[in-house]
Amino acid sequence: MSAIAKLTKAVMGEVDDRFHLTPVIEKNLTRKWVPQTLSWAGCFGGLAFLIFLIQIFTGILLLMYYKSDAERAWDSVTFVKSNVPMGWLIQRIHSVGANFMIALVFLHMARVAYLRIYRKPRELHWISGAVLLLATCMLAFTGYLLPWTQLSYWGAKVGTEIPSAVPLLGEYIVQLIRRGPSISGETLGFFFAVHIWVLPGLTVLVMVLHFLMIRRTGISRPL
Ligand code: HEM
Repeated sequence: MSAIAKLTKAVMGEVDDRFHLTPVIEKNLTRKWVPQTLSWAGCFGGLAFLIFLIQIFTGILLLMYYKSDAERAWDSVTFVKSNVPMGWLIQRIHSVGANFMIALVFLHMARVAYLRIYRKPRELHWISGAVLLLATCMLAFTGYLLPWTQLSYWGAKVGTEIPSAVPLLGEYIVQLIRRGPSISGETLGFFFAVHIWVLPGLTVLVMVLHFLMIRRTGISRPL
């Protein structure tokens, strides 16, 4: 056994003596029962969660350089892509990851719908899942504006136009989302706050509920 492995074992032994973590880790992680017939389709939810974690990690790295200011947003993203070591890779992973996460959440939902797993006692799994789907789409939409390119500008313009179809309140909602009559630096600041605080916070909260409910009912397949 290497010196590092010995040291880890000794430290973990001491921690375990005090906090008795091994049974908890074994029950929840290393000796957990899973369905015998686990297929790829059964992993879409877990994969979406994995991508979410990658998005949080790469998002925090990007935040170290990003400026949510109309004058400097584009420059700050260009700086990350061309001057920061591995910055282009982190930025690419974050933007491609968003697409993968949406695709995986849709595939996960399609499987649940096809196998009719939304029926009693899993109705709340479905409802919390629908909130997660909406939050995932909104995360991608708000993030799309942040690089402040022509594409992001027009994407946000078209996207924020949609609520104008709501009777009576439509125009009011559009102005509320845009923080004014048109897409401007105010919109960028608002989207930034929603993208890095509101939506990730909501997503984590609903994900915890989603996972707790899955633990309560157990997975729909026999273990
Ligand atoms: C960020 C989005 C989501 C994540 C990370 C996620 C994660 C998961 C995970 C890890 C599982 C357990 C394994 C599995 O059956 O795949 C699961 C189960 C489930 N999810 Fe999601 N989910 C998300 C969105 C959704 C959506 C959009 C729906 C439907 C509208 C949904 C409905 C369900 C249901 C009904 C189950 C129970 C499946 C069973 O018991 O076999 N989830 N989810």
